[in-house]
Amino acid sequence: MAPSNSTAIHQKLRCRFYKLFVLSALLLYIIIYIVTSNHPCCQSSTLFTDPCFPTNITHLVFGISASSNTWNDKKHYVESWWRPNITRGFLFLDRPPTEHLPWPSAVDPPFKVSEGHDNGVRMARAVVEAFRAEKRGVRWYVMAEDDTVFFVNNLVEVLGKYDHRKYYYVGMNSECIVANWEGGFGMGFGGGGYALSYPLVEALAENLDLCIRRYEYGYGSGHVLQSCVADLGVSLTLEKGFHQIDLRGDISGFLSSHPQSPILSLHHLDTANPIFPSLNRHDSLNHLMKAAQADEPRLLQQTNCYHKPTNWTFSISWGYSAHIYESIFPPSILQRPIETFLPWKKGAMPPFVFNTRLPSKHPCEAPHVFFFDSMEEPIGGRVITRYVRRWQRQLPACSESGNYSADHISKIHVVSPIGKLDGVSNSLSCFTNVVLG
Ligand SMILES: *[C@@H]1O[C@H](CO)[C@@H](O)[C@H](O)[C@H]1NC(C)=O
Ligand SMILES: *[C@@H]1O[C@H](CO)[C@@H](O)[C@H](O)[C@H]1NC(C)=O
Ligand SMILES: *[C@@H]1O[C@H](CO)[C@@H](O)[C@H](O)[C@H]1NC(C)=O
Ligand SMILES: *[C@@H]1O[C@H](CO)[C@@H](O)[C@H](O)[C@H]1NC(C)=O
Repeated sequence: MAPSNSTAIHQKLRCRFYKLFVLSALLLYIIIYIVTSNHPCCQSSTLFTDPCFPTNITHLVFGISASSNTWNDKKHYVESWWRPNITRGFLFLDRPPTEHLPWPSAVDPPFKVSEGHDNGVRMARAVVEAFRAEKRGVRWYVMAEDDTVFFVNNLVEVLGKYDHRKYYYVGMNSECIVANWEGGFGMGFGGGGYALSYPLVEALAENLDLCIRRYEYGYGSGHVLQSCVADLGVSLTLEKGFHQIDLRGDISGFLSSHPQSPILSLHHLDTANPIFPSLNRHDSLNHLMKAAQADEPRLLQQTNCYHKPTNWTFSISWGYSAHIYESIFPPSILQRPIETFLPWKKGAMPPFVFNTRLPSKHPCEAPHVFFFDSMEEPIGGRVITRYVRRWQRQLPACSESGNYSADHISKIHVVSPIGKLDGVSNSLSCFTNVVLG
């Protein structure tokens, strides 16, 4: 018995030893892993940037393509979002702006006269010119046109999600299938704006001339640039908040069903109708910017809620519009824009890259439409926005869902918390927060 007993003890001891060994090896491995892992804060960065600091506005450099001839008509768009002495970047003009001198540096971005005169490749060159002029602490180069309107805080937030030390090309397609078909579904449209990470631009800068020569007969500078980016093995990362707005007419249907994604840009506001029907284009943009200043992450975010006693659906596009339907519509339907607008080019079928709803004269389908009118000073982390009716619907009540007319409602007050949306909390719980007037 004794020998077998001692082997048992031996075995036990050996077993313990192995366990201890395995355990300490694991511990050591974890320690080594932590020490040598590529957690961003553990790496010494070779760029000018420190990844332990989240991306902020000083890490972005804007390159805006513009023309001296039309600058007077376009500068309002740039001035609506440009923050003098805060935003970094340049206006790239086609020729010296002699008639605009002295340049108003207190309100407008500094200008550069583009090196390339060929309009087709000007934007591709502007990326590299911006790079050569501004490198310190840059994480992103954001390219746009003179009629692009950016929502800068949202842009900083969204770009901050990406690792700026890698190659990234972030932008969005056109709303129109034909434009994407011609320009390329892989291209970030320049009017909506797009962003390139620092290392990608650094790599582009090395071979730009060669690359431009290879692709200069492309569809336009956006296409030339995309071709050069593709040569580096990089494809477009789509961000739904960039808007080329290849739409005409009344784009309120589009802006009332914005995707659940922070709005990053608007474009072509001079070819669409004024976005607020009671204001001109210039004042409409300023009006939207007032809401943006109060709570930019929530701007145009759609919230739907239901009032059971009347069978009504409320659909609010925060800071822009509010709709009341006299029947119950699920979010999957409300997410589709009402086709109040036209495509850039008539006749193409199907016209858009998203589903739409056709405008309806049916009392159960046609919404009562209200537009953002005013707001109160934010207090206690909350803000009240008011939406007022601009016209009577001129339809009877929806009898199928109880015949409750909303004709007498003239104002809607929306109380909302200010701050970041996390996807879930982004639905305002309705009837404590919506006050009808
Ligand atoms: C932006 O981040 C940098 C670090 O990269 C920091 O030095 C700077 O103070 C920040 N600026 C703002 C406005 O937060
Ligand atoms: C921007 O900075 C310059 C000097 O650096 C100053 O003269 C100018 O007043 C500033 N502009 C604004 C709008 O703060
Ligand atoms: C709401 O509409 C449904 C039919 O869609 C109807 O059965 C119900 O009675 C209505 N509710 C009210 C409060 O009228
Ligand atoms: C609906 O209400 C209106 C008055 O608001 C009334 O004239 C009409 O007869 C009602 N229709 C039905 C189907 O109840």
